[in-house]
Amino acid sequence: MTQDEIKAMVARAALTHVPPGGIIGVGTGSTVNHFIDALATLREGIAGAVSSSNASTARLRGHGIRVLEAGDVEQLALYVDGADEIDPRGHMIKGGGAALTREKIVADLAQFFLCIADASKQVGVLGRFPLPVEVIGIAANRITRRFEAIGGRAALRQGVVTDNGHPILDVHGLVITDPAALEAEINQWPGVVTVGLFARHHAHLCLLGRVDGVQVLHF
Ligand code: 5RP
Repeated sequence: MTQDEIKAMVARAALTHVPPGGIIGVGTGSTVNHFIDALATLREGIAGAVSSSNASTARLRGHGIRVLEAGDVEQLALYVDGADEIDPRGHMIKGGGAALTREKIVADLAQFFLCIADASKQVGVLGRFPLPVEVIGIAANRITRRFEAIGGRAALRQGVVTDNGHPILDVHGLVITDPAALEAEINQWPGVVTVGLFARHHAHLCLLGRVDGVQVLHF
């Protein structure tokens, strides 16, 4: 099985968690693209979706799935999204696809976060994948120096502007042993829009794809 086939497998497995008649929170990325394609088979059985990116919105609409604005929804029963890394407690690094801010907004609306990922995303400690941080442009240098002070090397992601019109810093070299504390700390730095640490909005369940099937992780 290729990595892409494994992603498709976990995406299909996520369909059993979709509440009939519900509005589904939908993330962003290659694994979620498979989920959106699979969700199309349930199109008549759901009320619609709230999307975390322009790319996911376009794909959902392309399948004829109704897309609602996050601001028009009070609560979602389920949010389905991928991850760049997931630790043994369901804490994640996200934002490899630059959609971290809207992903966190939609995750915040949801009562349940279902992570779909291939096994390469499973780590003991977060930080091998560079931590994405969406920032206000004029604060990027100051935030870079703040990361230096805690042992991180921040690099501006070249040629990328988020759906919100901001740059992204990718921070290398962090060993994130306390994701909740680091997320809270970075959130206080002026100019940070969103840090791609999902500790407060951790996964409740992860469907982890392996060559021999889908492993279910509860957090
Ligand atoms: C996008 C994300 C994605 O969930 C993450 O990058 C994983 O992507 P993929 O499913 O393509 O491996 O956080 O901002």
